Amino acid sequence: MMFMFYGMRPEEKEYVISWSQQNNVQVKTTAELLTADTVEQAQGADGIVALQTQAYPKEVFDKMGQMGIKSLSLRNVGTDNVDKEAAKANHIRISNVPAYSPNAIAEFAVSSMMQLLRQTRKVIQYVEDGQLKEAVALVGKELSAQTVGVVGTGRIGKRVVDILQGMGAKVIAYDPAFHQPDIDYVDNLDDLLKQVDILTLHIPGMPATEHLINEKNISLMKPGSYLVNDARGMIVETRALINALKEGRLAGAALDTFENEDELGKAMAQGQDNQDPDYQTLKAMDNVILTPHIAYHTDIAVHNMVHQSLDSAYQFSQGQDPENEVKF
Ligand code: NAD
Ligand code: COI
Repeated sequence: MMFMFYGMRPEEKEYVISWSQQNNVQVKTTAELLTADTVEQAQGADGIVALQTQAYPKEVFDKMGQMGIKSLSLRNVGTDNVDKEAAKANHIRISNVPAYSPNAIAEFAVSSMMQLLRQTRKVIQYVEDGQLKEAVALVGKELSAQTVGVVGTGRIGKRVVDILQGMGAKVIAYDPAFHQPDIDYVDNLDDLLKQVDILTLHIPGMPATEHLINEKNISLMKPGSYLVNDARGMIVETRALINALKEGRLAGAALDTFENEDELGKAMAQGQDNQDPDYQTLKAMDNVILTPHIAYHTDIAVHNMVHQSLDSAYQFSQGQDPENEVKF
């Protein structure tokens, strides 16, 4: 038995080895991503395991079908980059790792909020430039005095709420499909936007959430409020965000995920910066914190991503129904 493991990163290696030894199963690895050009490296595999923000296109599933490979196990949560119709048409079963560490992303989101409130990017820049007088003149805000709006209270959103409540912030949430105990919900997004000092997004990227935050409703946000997006770039209309920041309607934004993330991925693969003009505009703003999709990236998360995805691949190969199978 053998699994083909794409997109392997150095920090994953020890967990691939430990899983392989514990299960006595060969795992063939490559740092290359799964594409129509690389899929043939999986010839003879009993399943594919992959991690990437770039698309898994139809050609990949067509070739997997021809090669007789029946499963693709993602090491991450989001399935927005999977051509679901093509997977279905080729009878390829998909799994993800839905809860490798919701806490990792939640802690990152809350730390971004605090950096925005304390203007950390500006402070660091002033200190680096030797402008200490300017650095000490910056006045921050306290998270416990803010009202935070959480969009989506699933695994990650709920953990964000717990942390924020523990820190004394007022939290209001919007989630039309899933209400948790001990959270105050509003019935529509516009009401949330009007009330909060910080808006944080924790929903999947899918057609129904594309540009959920847009030119029209971003104008409802309180002057001086902040946006945090650690979910998917497509949820925010980037131009609308840029306009709101330029006009000073929003005081700042922290983005771990960015629209057109394919460009970011390609640039990263070549060791270069993302040349997307909107990305560069945001990068030049000192009230914006940009991170390259790393909210998840902790030791606990990496361990669980590797082991749980390989567990699912193994279960598929045994004709079982993994708990983490994604049914589209
Ligand atoms: P989840 O499925 O547990 O929760 C998602 C919640 O969003 C659900 O409760 C659902 O009802 C709600 N929802 C769906 N559409 C909505 C809408 N239009 N408005 C309000 N709520 C809506 O998912 P999760 O584990 O909490 O993950 C959320 C997302 O975070 C993932 O889909 C992924 O895109 C993103 N993510 C990002 C990173 C990162 O490193 N930046 C890591 C993991 C996940
Ligand atoms: C996810 O798990 O969905 C993420 O966003 C993490 C990323 C490495 C794809």
